[in-house]
Amino acid sequence: MGSLIVTDIGELVTADGSGVGEPALGLVHDAEIVVVGHEVVYAGPRGGGPRPADLPPPVAIDSVDGRLVSPGLCDPHTHPLWAGERTREFDLRNQGVRYAEIQRQGGGILATVRATTAASDEALIAGMRARLHRMLAQGVTRCEAKTGYGLLPAAELRLLDLLVQAAAGQPVSVSPTLLCHVPPPGLSPAERADLVAALAAILPEAKRRGAEALDVYCDEGAFTLAETEFLLRAGRAAGLRLRCHAEQFTHTGAAERAACLGATSVEHLEQIDPAGVVALARAGTVANLLPGAALTLRLPWPDARRLIDAGVRVALGTDLNPGTSLSESLPLMMTLACTQMGMSCAEAWLAVTIHAAHAVGSSGRLRAGARADIVVWDAEGYREVCQHFGVPLAQRVYIAGQLVWEAAPGPAR
Ligand code: NIG
Ligand code: FE
Repeated sequence: MGSLIVTDIGELVTADGSGVGEPALGLVHDAEIVVVGHEVVYAGPRGGGPRPADLPPPVAIDSVDGRLVSPGLCDPHTHPLWAGERTREFDLRNQGVRYAEIQRQGGGILATVRATTAASDEALIAGMRARLHRMLAQGVTRCEAKTGYGLLPAAELRLLDLLVQAAAGQPVSVSPTLLCHVPPPGLSPAERADLVAALAAILPEAKRRGAEALDVYCDEGAFTLAETEFLLRAGRAAGLRLRCHAEQFTHTGAAERAACLGATSVEHLEQIDPAGVVALARAGTVANLLPGAALTLRLPWPDARRLIDAGVRVALGTDLNPGTSLSESLPLMMTLACTQMGMSCAEAWLAVTIHAAHAVGSSGRLRAGARADIVVWDAEGYREVCQHFGVPLAQRVYIAGQLVWEAAPGPAR
């Protein structure tokens, strides 16, 4: 089984403190982590853990030279399974064409649906694995991953199967979500009602095939509030965790409704109102804020400060997708959250560790008994990862005690 000691840690983020803000980070200076097999057995001050002679051999030692070490990051919102590209749309939008207009002209999500439908299973799996690998290189060890570029029930089940296959055989741990994204255009009201019923009907099968959650996109041009509620109720009956893309372009009331239905998370929230904020705090629903989409679409920044001050658990995700947030970088989202959304560096770290993990049903902490998902950063303190943007700072990544990614060696700091 073997053991691992990560030692000479200058600053350790355990994310296992108490309270809010920096105390919740559970910082330890001059620290070490001891791992046996897949699990942490000790994370704390150096010299406080079991002695090497008492550990199951072989004992590997990773001396990190005073660097920052943290739990693996968790990305709670990604759309990593697609084919094709939308670079022209990116360019057009930057010249002032609106997202909704591009969508009406058959671009946007529909363009990706066409490319994804035409792509081979092998190409889709390879594309998703490449994206997961880029996430890993940014310090991400666990993520949520949505289907959503199939639209019709059989196509969504195909994507769910491919998502599960892509997740297997690579190290990042993936929590699959079935996404009801948008109804295909041109449906009559009766056809649309049939589609919603058919999507609801596949949810037990989706759960059997590995989906852990259902997400519904509620907005103008997507599902209505009534359709969303119907689907979420069906998801709940099928035993799935509930998520909802809510209040992104227009205020629909979906965040509040989803929270009342017991949703684990709601996503985007640029247009959330005070009643929505109160409902999230009351229900303990995680707010997955997605600065990459706000940046790309030039939407107002989600009001993280208001949510945190109201007691809502705020997480950050990349929203990785081919149109509105083409980024695998969770550290970049931390920078945007700090510079544009009023979050402190400590809040940004909590958002990508314990709060994101809560949204995907894991712990996000480094403490005895936790899975040994560990990142060594080319940084001295936690704030540096938020301030120093646009370059990858993760240096080594362990998942379940195994070294799964390492940056090419550079000059000493
Ligand atoms: O989360 N808002 C809806 N869905 C995605 C966008 C997907 C796309 O444009 O391909 C999102 O931003
Ligand atoms: Fe999304």
